[in-house]
Amino acid sequence: MDKKISIAIDGPGGAGKSTLAKRLAERLGCVYVDTGAIYRTVGLYVRRNDVSPSDAEAVEKLLPTLDISLEYVDGKQRMFANGEDVTDYLRTPEMSMYASAVSALPCVRAFLLESQRSLAERYSVIMDGRDIGTVVLPDADVKIFLTADERERARRRWLELLDRGEDAKYATVLHELQQRDAADSSRAIAPLAAAEDAVTLDTTALDLDQSLEAMLAIIKEKTGGAK
Ligand code: DC
Repeated sequence: MDKKISIAIDGPGGAGKSTLAKRLAERLGCVYVDTGAIYRTVGLYVRRNDVSPSDAEAVEKLLPTLDISLEYVDGKQRMFANGEDVTDYLRTPEMSMYASAVSALPCVRAFLLESQRSLAERYSVIMDGRDIGTVVLPDADVKIFLTADERERARRRWLELLDRGEDAKYATVLHELQQRDAADSSRAIAPLAAAEDAVTLDTTALDLDQSLEAMLAIIKEKTGGAK
């Protein structure tokens, strides 16, 4: 690939961002960057240090002691906190809430911004998150805002948890998803929002393959068929 391209995928939890972005990255030969995992790593570190995720002063004091890094092992993104691979601890409902809480703090967003941008300078990337098209990569070649009805998103999350053998209740998953959407959308800094130039794709009635095809069509149109 000669010219680097960047594709920003934003949207609420459970819309299918990470699964679809991963598949797109394989198809297009790009690096997939799951920025939610980066916020989750901060959340985990804050939790392990018994700091409240909404205590801005305490979190700010803690950040210089955290060295976050990201590696690709067998094509999969792994997250490291001070050298320890913490990837397997990140995708729990508790860490979802911690990540959402720390992500509302300006010190945390500032701490993570440059490293996300520098990945897009070095590689062709498909980056998913909440503020990629609006803040991290405002000049991304393609911006897709992926969404779906909240009940459908909760259903997908619930099935994902059951699939992992967890004893999850649909009503709890729905409630937590609603809380997190509200917090992520209403925070003062870099809230979850579609960029003005993003294409919104509603995946409520689409399965994964159909969603993937719809995204590929958007990418093709935006990049003039170069991909
Ligand atoms: O995509 P996810 O569920 O792994 O993200 C976890 C939390 O991290 C999400 O609730 C909000 C925050 N986040 C963010 O604020 N900005 C991003 N670019 C990615 C995630």
